[in-house]
Formats: sequence, C-alpha cells, structure tokens
Amino acid sequence: MSDAKLTKFRLFTLTLFVLTGVVAACSGASIPVTFEDRVIDSARIEQGQQLYAQYCAACHGVNGEGQFPNTPLEPDPTGRYGAPPHNESGHTWHHDDALLFRYVREGGMGDPSAFYPMPAFGEQLSDEQIVSILAYIKSLWTNDQRVYQQQRTEAANEG
Ligand code: HEC
Repeated sequence: MSDAKLTKFRLFTLTLFVLTGVVAACSGASIPVTFEDRVIDSARIEQGQQLYAQYCAACHGVNGEGQFPNTPLEPDPTGRYGAPPHNESGHTWHHDDALLFRYVREGGMGDPSAFYPMPAFGEQLSDEQIVSILAYIKSLWTNDQRVYQQQRTEAANEG
C-alpha cells in the first residue's frame, strides 16, 4: 500500500472506530445495577470494588478475569478448574441473586477433585458487604447480561 493510501486507510478505520463508540454510547443508556428488587448506587458499587480487591481478586482476578485468564473455563494440568472469571467473559451472570449470595456466604459447591476450593465468607463479610461485592461484579457485565440475570432472579423468586 502507498503512503497516501495507508494514511487514508488509517483515517477510515479511525473514523469507523470513533463512530462505533458514539453509536454504542448513544444507543441504550446503561441499565442500573440491582440486587433483588433494589437499585444499587455507585457509592455502594465502589465500596464493593474495594471489598472485592481485598477478598476476591487474589483468585478471581483484579478485574474479574479469573484465576487462569488465558484458559479461564478449562481445567489446569492437575485436572481442576480455577476460580472462574466474573467479568462478561464468564458465566457468573447466569446465576440468580439468591444463588450468587449463597455462594459467597457459604462457599463453593464444586467437587474438590474437579475444582479449586471457593472459601465461605459468611464469617468475614456482612450480608450488606456481600451485596456490595456482587453489585461491583454486576457492573463488569454488559447491559444484556444484566437484563438476563435480572430476569433469572425474578423467575427464581416466582418459582
Ligand atoms: C481461594 C480462592 C478464592 C477466593 C479468595 C474467592 N473465590 Fe470465588 N471461587 C473460587 C473457585 C475455585 C470457584 C469455583 C469452584 C466452585 O464453584 O466451587 C469459585 C466460585 C465462585 C462463584 C460461583 C461461580 C460463578 O462464576 O458464578 C462465585 C459467585 C464466587 N466464587 C464469588 C466470589 C467472591 C464474591 C469472592 C470474594 C468475596 C470470592 N469468590 C473469593 C475461588 C475463590
């Protein structure tokens, strides 16, 4: 490619990139983070982020990328799964609120030969602290994932 063509090409991709961002920002304002039937405000989410950094990040990754970020959903050479990602690449958003809450309070439910252990935090964290942490995790998801997870929660509460 000639220099002129290359510059044009770069300008074109740059414009495309900026336009995509603008469209994404305008379409669908971000839906609020909720827990059960409460909307959780940004101060609580920030508090949750700090607690997450302190109690969860060592295993689940600072940004929720999981214990083995390159192969987050595959077993390691010992045959066990590590702490799964909590961000939009994981599957945490498939679980309803009550289940997520129970997971953190009571600890992992995985078979220890197939999973690294997930500790119980019921002794160290108050219920409200757990809600803040879960709210932070939810802030890592896409809008669609938050909508889906809210529907799961509503369905679980009806059933
Ligand atoms: C010592 C490592 C470790 C720490 C610390 C830890 N986890 Fe986990 N966590 C795991 C592992 C391993 C699993 C998967 C095994 C299982 O499900 O039993 C898991 C699973 C989970 C799950 C269910 C799977 C999913 O994606 O929905 C949730 C929710 C969760 N952890 C939240 C937390 C939160 C919140 C904290 C901090 C308060 C935390 N974990 C701290 C190791 C850890």
